[in-house]
Amino acid sequence: MELKEALLKRRSVRKFTDEPVSDEMIEELLHAAMSGPSACNRRPWDFYAVTKEDVLEKLKGASKFTKFNAKLAIIVCGNLSRALPMQMAPYWIQDCSAATENILLRVTDLGLGAVWCGIHPQKRAEKKVAEFLGLKANQIPLNIIFIGHPAEEPEARDQYEEKCVHYVR
Ligand SMILES: Cc1cc2nc3c(=O)[nH]c(=O)nc-3n(C[C@H](O)[C@H](O)[C@H](O)COP(=O)(O)O)c2cc1C
Repeated sequence: MELKEALLKRRSVRKFTDEPVSDEMIEELLHAAMSGPSACNRRPWDFYAVTKEDVLEKLKGASKFTKFNAKLAIIVCGNLSRALPMQMAPYWIQDCSAATENILLRVTDLGLGAVWCGIHPQKRAEKKVAEFLGLKANQIPLNIIFIGHPAEEPEARDQYEEKCVHYVR
């Protein structure tokens, strides 16, 4: 798929079939994630790929907006032990967001569907996800990406808005 097509076709998919996502596809998604840029190439991330049914069930309860029946969830975590020092540390959020978007685009490319569900900075949700996955104190869950074979196909769209563009020339 051409990149431009994938950019417009990527939409949040919240309904999935029962078909599992193959191990090969999961690996493809993780390769896409780690191809992303990161500040000073610190790659301050960890990825949890969950297919275990009871953990998927728990993850649905992470927040009010995470109740999705997907066969795969990838949790993108910042790993503070690999983040930049001092006031630069919060760059992990941008690094992990770039990795997340890469996953979403590859999801589209593979004919899968996904929805990005924000966890950080919701403290209660962070705590729940950390418990479900047994995270260490230096791992912060940025989001849960629920992924599966799509049972709905939101229309491709372009959200270009002239009012948001400011040329300086
Ligand atoms: C940081 C972030 C957090 C989000 N959290 C949720 C969420 O908790 N639950 C959900 O259903 N969608 C969530 N979304 C998806 C947005 O609602 C969605 O991207 C937006 O409405 C635009 O629709 P589209 O993805 O189909 O283009 C989140 C998206 C982002 C970028």
